[in-house]
Amino acid sequence: MINENLMNSFPALKRSRAGKRPVYLDNACMTLRPIQVIRAMEEYYTQFPACASRSTHWFAGEVNERVEESYKQIAKFTGAKENELVFLKNATEALNLVANSIQKFTSETRKIVVITDKEHSSNTIPWYKLEAKGIIKLVILETKRDGTFDFEKFVDFMKNYGDKVILVSTVWVSNLDSVKFPIEEIIEIAKKYGALTMIDAAQALPHIPVNFENLGADFMAFSTHKMVGPAGGFLIVKEELMEQLEQLSTGGGTVEDFNTKRNIQFFKGRARLEAGLQDYAAIIGSAAAANFLKEVGLKNIEEHEKELTAYALELLGKIEDIGILGPKDPEKASGIVTFYIKKPAVSVEERDVGEAMSDKYNVMVRTGRFCVYNWFNAKGFPTFFTPIRASFYLYNTKEDVEVLAEAVKEAVDKVKWMPTVDVNGW
Ligand code: ALA
Repeated sequence: MINENLMNSFPALKRSRAGKRPVYLDNACMTLRPIQVIRAMEEYYTQFPACASRSTHWFAGEVNERVEESYKQIAKFTGAKENELVFLKNATEALNLVANSIQKFTSETRKIVVITDKEHSSNTIPWYKLEAKGIIKLVILETKRDGTFDFEKFVDFMKNYGDKVILVSTVWVSNLDSVKFPIEEIIEIAKKYGALTMIDAAQALPHIPVNFENLGADFMAFSTHKMVGPAGGFLIVKEELMEQLEQLSTGGGTVEDFNTKRNIQFFKGRARLEAGLQDYAAIIGSAAAANFLKEVGLKNIEEHEKELTAYALELLGKIEDIGILGPKDPEKASGIVTFYIKKPAVSVEERDVGEAMSDKYNVMVRTGRFCVYNWFNAKGFPTFFTPIRASFYLYNTKEDVEVLAEAVKEAVDKVKWMPTVDVNGW
């Protein structure tokens, strides 16, 4: 299923610079888009570039139909009901929307929100702000040294404080090292103690099948630009909780009526939460992305990524002075290999390692802390420690991994050493 034909669907892969093709390994940040998604968006802009849910003319009728159909397709792809979906700017907005509503669910005796130290800033900072206002009490569970979820610690915590926990909000697949948290078990334990659950699935849906209903979570956040779709994201919220969510913004499209006496009659359902004109092209393009992934098969994607991860671990493992963050077993974590140059190096000939690899080899990786600052700080990494992340997707090949290894080898040879620092024995 993963073959050359499929790779031909991605126009950006046909580019070339200095006679070399692109080796795009920054998929955990944003994936490339296939022609099917681009065409779906182009169709909106060229054929019926009008507003939905308002006007009754020809173009509006077509956009209405396509947008409604797109919601249905995205819902089906994620195992949700169509009326459980709220289309938003990104997964960050989805997580913020729920955080912003937490007061609707807390009580005097139940105000603990549990997260882990491996959350993205979008599942951390909103909670810090709410805690500072006294609205919640935040508990940050430490993950294990190998990046995995400390389930025993979680169970123990819930045994002692579960009746005070209002929400367990955790990532499913880590954007740092692709470690999967045992999300089914986490949800089961949270439910046992009457707590709500929110899952950051931004890195999950691109790589593994997701079924909201079977999982039984209350909220799930997704990112469409990490699943070959346009820039965007969505929230899935259990039908019965939808009306309790607070609006992040209000305006056109959210109200049925209002008057000068300040009476407002809001719509029910997602319309109340999707203020103003929407990015219809992105909604339509996201459905095209979901259909593309369905056709390729998420199981095939997972297998392909496992193979590339195993190969990357093998080749990088042969390079002296390279260390790997996260598990070295692709069965435990696949799709992302995050590594570092030992005796921490931050630059190659005064440049960022990633920039140097891109300049010479067209290898595109991401360097830095990937918005997971808590994990690096909790584990005691010095601030100048700069890991390198290669994240794979369905269009990457074994040759890509070979070019990556070649570029890394050169970086290691040319790197300017910082004064020797023990990176915590990592
Ligand atoms: N969370 C995105 C990443 O890991 C931005 O690159």
